[in-house]
Amino acid sequence: MRHKILIVVGARPNFMKAAPLFIEFKKYKNIRPLLVHTGQHYDRNLSKVFLDDLKLPKPHFSLGIGSGTHSVQSGKMMIAFEKILVKQDPRAVMVVGDVNSTLACALAAVKYRCTRQYYRPFIAHVEAGLRSFDWHMPEEINRRLSDSLSDLLFITEPSAYHNLLNEGIAKNRIFYVGNIMIDSLFQFRDQAEKSKILARLQLGKNNYAVLTMHRPRNVDDRQDLKNILSVLQKLSHSIPIIFPIHPRTQKMLHSHRIHIDFLKTVAPLGYLDFLKLMMNAKFVLTDSGGIQEETTVLNVPCLTLRENTERPITVSLGTNIVVGKDSRKIMREAEKILRGRGKRGRIPKFWDGQTSHRICRIVHKYLKAHC
Ligand code: UD1
Repeated sequence: MRHKILIVVGARPNFMKAAPLFIEFKKYKNIRPLLVHTGQHYDRNLSKVFLDDLKLPKPHFSLGIGSGTHSVQSGKMMIAFEKILVKQDPRAVMVVGDVNSTLACALAAVKYRCTRQYYRPFIAHVEAGLRSFDWHMPEEINRRLSDSLSDLLFITEPSAYHNLLNEGIAKNRIFYVGNIMIDSLFQFRDQAEKSKILARLQLGKNNYAVLTMHRPRNVDDRQDLKNILSVLQKLSHSIPIIFPIHPRTQKMLHSHRIHIDFLKTVAPLGYLDFLKLMMNAKFVLTDSGGIQEETTVLNVPCLTLRENTERPITVSLGTNIVVGKDSRKIMREAEKILRGRGKRGRIPKFWDGQTSHRICRIVHKYLKAHC
């Protein structure tokens, strides 16, 4: 008998974490991985392009939820996902990262389990234990609650272990397996080399910076957004800044009537194009989580436009510096990089392209033990 495992994706940063799991599980004869797409992201360039770039099949189940307030979006996801749970009765549900889809589907799965006679499905959270300790971030809520609901917690760095122990999670449920997103990076790096994005944007190695920014904290408030942009405007006199612009940011710029002609804006990029852009950048400015980790592995300096990071190893070991919204700090660190004195780093343990292999082995063992 093949055990069904539902792997949930919903928003852009989920795809590169789910792809290595899906591919690795396919190697096991007694496991049938099934991909569930909640539809949290639905624009082609936030969703379909990633499935294609990462060679993922069309999802087995598409919930088509779309945008909404957090509660509306999460509620709709739970209702739709519960129907899949009832029909499929899977052995396991795997959720990744910290987006709304992660929490909504983990919660629906444990609620469904209460109605069953046997302990199934079990819930596994990949990228567990990260904490910004900032309860204003929806992702922090998603992380904490998903972890508290999960049976198996797969972590990327030692800080996660301590965070989980502090929250009362039993040691034997936590597994330090490394960073699954880096599996995708290693697997697709050669293919990304072939991307024509630099030629298309008329860029050369190291002669530009990349910016990504979409956090509500940075883009929703007009004054905050204007403050950050005024530093970036100053910086753009020294180096061109390429800005693949997230729809949320686009919408806010439009409603705040702010123009950013000093940045080179492009539509959101697919996985391979964006990887190529990062690999060749002088440095990256971002408020994303995953990009802090990818730049560490690529040894590209990263300035994080947030007050905190839930990924402290990218600062202690990697190339990341948390600069917040402090314009002087942003300029000082950027100028250092421009003078060739950017931060260099090391790659954390187990960020080696083998994380999916470790996770699937553990899940397989767990399935056998609980059959
Ligand atoms: C979500 C995640 C965030 C992640 C980001 C990556 C949560 C709480 N947030 O943020 O952690 O870093 O994805 O992109 O889960 N929109 C579109 N097209 C889409 C999807 C969204 O135009 O395909 C617009 C809509 O106006 C929507 C807004 O973007 O209201 C926000 O979308 P949402 O999925 O709520 O959050 P993100 O900001 O994308």
